[in-house]
Amino acid sequence: MSPSQILSLRGVSKFFGGVQAVLDVYLDVLEGEMLGLIGPNGAGKSTLAKLILGSLKPSTGKVFFGGRDITGLSRRERAGLGIAGTNQFPRVFSSLTLRENLEISLKSGGGKHLFESVAEVAELLGLSGLLEAQASSLSHGQRRLLEIGMALVSGSRLLVLDEPSQGLTGGEVERLASILTGLSSKRLSVILIDHRVDFVKSLSGRVGVMSKGRMVALGPAGDKGVADVIEEVYLRGLDAGD
Ligand SMILES: Nc1ncnc2c1ncn2[C@@H]1O[C@H](COP(=O)(O)OP(=O)(O)OP(=O)(O)O)[C@@H](O)[C@H]1O
Ligand SMILES: [Mg+2]
Repeated sequence: MSPSQILSLRGVSKFFGGVQAVLDVYLDVLEGEMLGLIGPNGAGKSTLAKLILGSLKPSTGKVFFGGRDITGLSRRERAGLGIAGTNQFPRVFSSLTLRENLEISLKSGGGKHLFESVAEVAELLGLSGLLEAQASSLSHGQRRLLEIGMALVSGSRLLVLDEPSQGLTGGEVERLASILTGLSSKRLSVILIDHRVDFVKSLSGRVGVMSKGRMVALGPAGDKGVADVIEEVYLRGLDAGD
């Protein structure tokens, strides 16, 4: 039996005044898959992430989750269904400890949890030794890993990661890759948005390419057609179809 769709975007667009940030996107994310999303600056990736998480509402089009129309649901309501994510800029509670940050997220998530305990996720993040440290004392990379951990403990069905590798050291990127690889045993769907094309391709089953608001290619990570479009939008700055 083929895996079923967990998320479907149907003709989703988002306009900010005259700016067409996302334009007529159709996308199906399958249960348990890691879908990569790449594209140059301003392509619409973060806007698409927000439309999925519910912090933005589409100008047109619909969002379905588990077959249900969730277009009108808030971010909080979607979190209750098991949709979680990280923002491009990390947000953690600076005055609280790592343990407290993770505990809040563990309590806030909807449905079943992927992790039994805060200790289990701290171990996965490589941050066990820092559980009692205040979040304000963390490096940028540690804060980012913590934020990913917070999304992981709260989101049980779909995780949207927006630029998780941004600002991480080489070692931290490797840690992140092994964290994401380790998730394949959980029945979690992940949308991985990142500028590191090889990082995304190595972790994702399928990769979508966005340019100027549109999804200009979508296919297996090793697909020649996808690679050609990536080269076009990144190296030559063209729209697919130009
Ligand atoms: N709140 C907003 N108000 C007005 N315009 C916006 C807003 N958010 C995004 N945009 C515009 O929408 C377009 C898409 O932006 P978005 O942040 O989604 O791109 P991105 O692919 O995430 O880029 P980056 O790789 O730089 O993160 C850009 O032209 C951006 O300036
Ligand atoms: Mg972005």
